[in-house]
Amino acid sequence: MSQKIRVIYNQKGGVGKTTIAVNLAACAAMKGKRTLLIDSDPQGNATSYILGHNNQPEKTLADYYESCLHINIFRQSLFDYIIHKTNIPNLHLIACNRELEELRTKLENKHKIMKLKDGLKNNTYDHVYIDPPPANDFFSLACLIAATEIIIPIDCDAFSIKAAHEIKNTIEEVKQDHNPNLLIRGMIVNQFQKGTKHSAGILQDLRKVGFDIIEPFIPTSIKVRESHSEVKPIVLGHQDHTVSQAFVNIFNNIENLSNKNEKKKNYELDTSI
Ligand SMILES: Nc1ncnc2c1ncn2[C@@H]1O[C@H](COP(=O)(O)OP(=O)(O)O)[C@@H](O)[C@H]1O
Ligand SMILES: [Mg+2]
Repeated sequence: MSQKIRVIYNQKGGVGKTTIAVNLAACAAMKGKRTLLIDSDPQGNATSYILGHNNQPEKTLADYYESCLHINIFRQSLFDYIIHKTNIPNLHLIACNRELEELRTKLENKHKIMKLKDGLKNNTYDHVYIDPPPANDFFSLACLIAATEIIIPIDCDAFSIKAAHEIKNTIEEVKQDHNPNLLIRGMIVNQFQKGTKHSAGILQDLRKVGFDIIEPFIPTSIKVRESHSEVKPIVLGHQDHTVSQAFVNIFNNIENLSNKNEKKKNYELDTSI
């Protein structure tokens, strides 16, 4: 099976990117997959979710990007050097903090947009999950270029449809310029309010944008916020909770889609020989 590098992308903030990236990574790790979670948001929320606010790792993604600004024959080994073990079996983390933001202009000026992809080139993880910032900027673009699959978290408010159209354009551009094989896995609907006309109407419009919806929807629960404070993915801390069950089912559905795709690709390769 080929490696899965999944970016959880939406330039809109507060839609659940970090929550989803961390919990899908935890699902993969729980299934015994060797998993790497990359926090690529200078706010460092995924890092805090896994390590807590007071536990800043010595090396972060900024150290790797900093090395990319100089000629350095050990750059590849530096990417391995910034990877940390976590308390969760099978889950490793590349942490992030504000230092990343300070490098942005230099990285842009020196055209270092491919460096995250380069860093990931020789890694042996089964699954990689990337949590980008809530922006359409250098760092989120670098994540889209490094990924093999994109997953789009969406909430049902009035701005979601505009955001979804923008995402479609961004993906088209990234595919055309840098990453033609980027696969759009689909949308994850977060904080869906069952039974409300408003949410149902927005969902109907979202479907028209053309992305598949990965079911089930994730309900709203205070347990999600609590899990951030508990410094433990909800799928590990509250395994029987409806939100955790939703995450596990979403993870399984993504895996099934992914594996079906793989089989189809292998079949096409076999029959073309
Ligand atoms: N299903 C949910 N139910 C309740 N709160 C949620 C849910 N999903 C996310 N949140 C909360 O919403 C806020 C934004 O989520 P986050 O994952 O940080 O989004 P993003 O990374 O897109 O900015 C966080 O406080 C998080 O705890
Ligand atoms: Mg976030």
